[in-house]
Amino acid sequence: MIRVVCPGSFDPVTNGHLDIISRAAKLHDEVIVAVLSNPSKQSLFTADERVEMLSEVTKGLANVRVAKFNGLTVDFCRANDVSAIFKGLRAVSDFEYEMQMAQMNYRMAKVETLFMTTNPLYSFLSSSLVKEIARYGGDVSGLVPDTVLSRLRERLAEE
Ligand code: PNS
Repeated sequence: MIRVVCPGSFDPVTNGHLDIISRAAKLHDEVIVAVLSNPSKQSLFTADERVEMLSEVTKGLANVRVAKFNGLTVDFCRANDVSAIFKGLRAVSDFEYEMQMAQMNYRMAKVETLFMTTNPLYSFLSSSLVKEIARYGGDVSGLVPDTVLSRLRERLAEE
């Protein structure tokens, strides 16, 4: 039984995340999408809202489940019998930080990290850019799932 975890902030989930999650689900028995609930980090959506959106957009993937976590990713891995952390790599700019985290996670708990290159359609995509563009009235349709798009519009209209 190979269970991997896709950890992240997912504020909000993008089509790039979804692409990696669905490709991870094809390769492994189970995928847990773990949403970091970090009250000290300001987010547009609460951790529960992020979990809700992820659950909605992954409902068609039978071997994917969504969870919320606090603290270290390696502790989540130990507690959930996770074989490896699974991450998407967009560009060289991601590589340095991701390699540092992967090596630190291995150093702390012998937890392995697997990387998959993102679909080039989404290699420029990030939740932060989506929020920024949407905040200034730009069009982010096609970059996030439709349900996220409407929640994004609602939330930004409240600002
Ligand atoms: O989507 P993000 O914000 O790029 O995801 C970053 C995340 C959540 C994967 C990373 O910050 C993380 O693992 N945080 C949990 C705390 C932790 O384990 N820190 C030590 C990393 S070596």
